[in-house]
Amino acid sequence: MYRSHTCGELRIANVNETITLAGWVQTVRKFGAITFIDLRDRYGITQLLFGEDLQAQIDANPLGREFVIQATGKVSERSNKNKNIPTGEVEIIVSSFKILNRSAVPPFTITDETDGGDDLRMKFRYLDLRRNAVKKNLELRYAVGRSTRNYMHENGFMDIETPFLIKSTPEGARDFVVPSRMNQGQFYALPQSPQTFKQLLMVSGYDRYYQIVKCFRDEDLRADRQPEFTQIDCEMSFVEQEDILNMFEGLVKQIFKDVKDIDYAETVERMTWENAMWNYGNDKPDIRFGMKLANLKFPAHVFAEKYEAAKASLVGGGLEGASFPVFEEAETVIAFAAPGCSEYSRKQTDELTEWVKRPQIGMKGLAFIKCNTDGTYKSSIDKFFTEDKLKAIADAAGAKAGDLVLILAGAEERTRKATSELRLEMGKRLGYRKDNEFKLLWVLDFPLFEYDADENRWVARHHPFTSPKPSDIEVMINNNPAIENPEKYLEHPYANIKANAYDMVLNGNEIGGGSIRIFQRELQEKMFAALGMSVEESLHKFGFLLGAFEYGAPPHGGLAFGFDRLCAILGGSESIRDFIAFPKNNSGRDVMLDAPATIDDKQLKELGITHPQTP
Ligand code: AMO
Repeated sequence: MYRSHTCGELRIANVNETITLAGWVQTVRKFGAITFIDLRDRYGITQLLFGEDLQAQIDANPLGREFVIQATGKVSERSNKNKNIPTGEVEIIVSSFKILNRSAVPPFTITDETDGGDDLRMKFRYLDLRRNAVKKNLELRYAVGRSTRNYMHENGFMDIETPFLIKSTPEGARDFVVPSRMNQGQFYALPQSPQTFKQLLMVSGYDRYYQIVKCFRDEDLRADRQPEFTQIDCEMSFVEQEDILNMFEGLVKQIFKDVKDIDYAETVERMTWENAMWNYGNDKPDIRFGMKLANLKFPAHVFAEKYEAAKASLVGGGLEGASFPVFEEAETVIAFAAPGCSEYSRKQTDELTEWVKRPQIGMKGLAFIKCNTDGTYKSSIDKFFTEDKLKAIADAAGAKAGDLVLILAGAEERTRKATSELRLEMGKRLGYRKDNEFKLLWVLDFPLFEYDADENRWVARHHPFTSPKPSDIEVMINNNPAIENPEKYLEHPYANIKANAYDMVLNGNEIGGGSIRIFQRELQEKMFAALGMSVEESLHKFGFLLGAFEYGAPPHGGLAFGFDRLCAILGGSESIRDFIAFPKNNSGRDVMLDAPATIDDKQLKELGITHPQTP
């Protein structure tokens, strides 16, 4: 027996018991003839006291950080108690000990606030994983997984595995491919998601499927993206959108309860994609705070349906009647009010201006109006606007006395995005984006298609298996997808087709997305054609699915949550890497394994790959 207890277990009630612990040496402190050691394992830290009788043995075999030892002794009440740890009232008076294994000096300290930089910690990830902070994240991940499995099981979902070696049918991100030795010159792809498999399972009659599953996407990486990541992947038959939204907000609420002890009693808010873009400049708005955008000027093609109404609703006529060349030339002008910031100094507004000029944001400048508490207005564009006009703009942005109105102007897409980013940044600076406050949102009615300017064709905004809104099916069937005039693609009937698709947003992050699927062969064929696929190509790529749809495919739909993302947000972090045991860095490398790496010529030859590799 290596141990009778763990290092997180002993309490005052255990005093006088003789116990054995095994673990890692966290710290060694020597006081004359006495040595204290903090012994650590997954469960906690316990203080060991080595008396005079053991000093000779210690001197002969000095104990260093991260040595693995086993110690037997008596639990004793500490005179000098440590209130910060659960075992802090006791210590072990060691009677005998053994070094089970030595350790080299670790390259960084195994503490919460470590001195190890990111690269070093990733290289020695097995040491990094010993740190409490990282361990807590993995524990949270495990808890989210367990809660998910319970909920899914209780609701009749069956966990079914789907293959990892599949066929390459890139749509969206690039595929990772795997050469086949037995079929030389041919390649498998790793799945970007089990999408088509779960749909086939619906055809097979497994009407409630789920899987916590790895997905692989060869795309540019960011803090919330990894080349291999995990989804909670789900699909249901005989359901409408409403059934899915209810089922899966139930799941997230259960996870909140189980993992964070939060009763998320309120119904999850819902917002159309169009309203999200209009009011927040973004399809995944953080609605923990207001600061909605005021659209002061926008091109007629944007939100065509609400254009006239939106224009008429501009408080004070928007920008009308004022002449400021920057706003006049801009396609779009958007403003919002930052509460309580009217007293920003010149230095602070200059700094914000620099912030929006950064290449990531890409704006040329920032205009502002200070709504002073005495009712006057002061602005960077005083010269061009009367005070009445400044007030009208401030009113349109919903500003109150004491607020600072921030205004961006430029090309539509960039300006909308930049204003959205600036709103989030101000939200952060003003303390509205708290880690421990959670706000869910469904974003609904996404466009079915997106325009791909490089290829002058439509691409599926979600994926090609997403169904159009019933009212738009006719539009899709009766119109030719070809885009005659790329300049005016927004006038093409396809630009306004809405999808039966939904995203779940948590605190401004897309944590999941899905759709009601197409389940008839004809409509699926039409969809492939709309995406510019020839009949041959669609049969080559998705013949199996089209075939399956001929054998009694039920109506179905589903969604997938980004498991890593959900964990990261619940854990109060922006980076999903912290919640993955062995993540890749931003260049897609595993720096511990040093992968990817070249392979032997012999291996290449076996695979029939003849290209010489440049190391
Ligand atoms: P989608 O592509 O929207 O949908 O993915 C679902 C969710 O997975 C997460 N996610 C990622 N997380 C980490 N790293 C990545 N590279 C990454 N890419 C996506 C996001 C996203 O919301 N098959 C469909 C789902 C469906 O229609 O049922 C799908 O994969 O949180």
